[in-house]
Amino acid sequence: MLLCLCAAPAGAAAKPRPACLACHALHYADQGSCTGCHRGNAASARKNIAHQLLIAGRYAGFTLGNTAVVKEGERLMEQLACRRCHVSGGRGNSFAASLDALLATKPAAEVADAVKFPAQGMPDFRLDETRITPLVNAVFAGGRNAGEKRRERPLTVHFLSSPGQSRDVFSGKCGACHRALTERQGLLGGGEIGPNLSGLLTEFYPADFPGGGRWTPERLRNWIDNPRRLAAHALMQPVRLDDREFRELTSALGARQDRPRQVDFQR
Ligand code: HEC
Ligand code: HEC
Ligand code: HEC
Ligand code: HEC
Repeated sequence: MLLCLCAAPAGAAAKPRPACLACHALHYADQGSCTGCHRGNAASARKNIAHQLLIAGRYAGFTLGNTAVVKEGERLMEQLACRRCHVSGGRGNSFAASLDALLATKPAAEVADAVKFPAQGMPDFRLDETRITPLVNAVFAGGRNAGEKRRERPLTVHFLSSPGQSRDVFSGKCGACHRALTERQGLLGGGEIGPNLSGLLTEFYPADFPGGGRWTPERLRNWIDNPRRLAAHALMQPVRLDDREFRELTSALGARQDRPRQVDFQR
């Protein structure tokens, strides 16, 4: 499968020779055009303009198909559970921006920087270039595979900062040690002693319940009641929650599955 980022007019007259060739040799000529794989502007022989939105060689592996670098990036994306918060390849929670849009909009170097210097609400994975390069390839491969699907799921936008709600259960009972990005309330909690619990009760959180498997509301209840009963060396202490508080908690750690995406303004 070939990628075409540019809108090449089908059946047009013989294409002009790309100005890239003033400075570069031809390669992969039978697999596409320079700008189809690297973006840039093939009409200009001035480097600054020709390199607009350029996808450098190390981030362009995905243009050759499901290559080793893409597979490694996808493995890291699963291991680090990026889809707890982001949609990639059409799958994932929409708590943060969809990664599928980036192929059309962001220079590869900025995608790399977004992982290297994470925004508020995104964990700092402390990755070096040897892992960021495959991740960027996987992000772009996801955008390519999602194709048209990506337009159907705009990001939910919330402004839920009514003062009465700021003492939510998560911030009050878990937030000293944990953080969670949520669909309805944005980022909750500020602790880093425990894992980031974003999307804990969704299919995109790692299946790391003690003994294996996904977290479910029942399993979470058992854990909160007494972590040591499930993991002998757990550092977390039991937390007391009544039924109402527990329901609020499970709703914050889940995702709306089948409701249409919506935009709430409440300020
Ligand atoms: C005026 C000369 C010139 C033109 C025109 C030009 N480039 Fe380059 N390109 C360079 C130079 C010099 C480098 C070496 C790195 C640098 O200085 O940015 C480079 C580097 C690159 C790289 C490698 C970047 C990396 O870090 O892996 C790619 C990919 C690339 N160019 C693609 C293109 C494409 C595609 C076009 C046409 C749309 C193009 N270039 C047009 C001069 C040019
Ligand atoms: C089918 C996709 C594809 C096409 C078409 C393509 N490239 Fe590349 N390019 C890549 C990939 C992938 C790399 C990374 C190194 C590799 O795999 O060879 C790369 C690497 C580069 C580099 C980095 C230097 C190097 O050799 O490692 C430059 C410069 C470059 N391409 C320029 C161009 C120019 C100019 C054109 C058009 C004549 C072009 N590319 C066409 C996929 C493509
Ligand atoms: C706990 C939630 C969370 C996780 C997990 C997470 N991110 Fe993010 N990410 C965010 C937030 C929040 C932003 C800021 C932009 C926004 O609100 O969408 C962001 C931004 C980004 C951006 C910039 C997006 C843009 O539109 O410019 C990229 C790229 C990105 N993340 C990649 C990743 C990758 C790759 C992983 C996995 C290694 C990952 N993220 C894991 C929350 C997360
Ligand atoms: C005083 C700190 C503290 C508080 C408060 C706390 N936790 Fe934890 N939690 C931890 C630590 C530390 C871990 C790491 C595992 C361990 O050693 O216990 C953890 C682990 C977890 C895990 C396992 C996650 C995984 O992927 O393995 C879940 C789920 C969890 N906590 C949920 C909660 C919830 C929900 C609350 C609030 C009701 C809460 N925690 C309150 C410290 C805390």
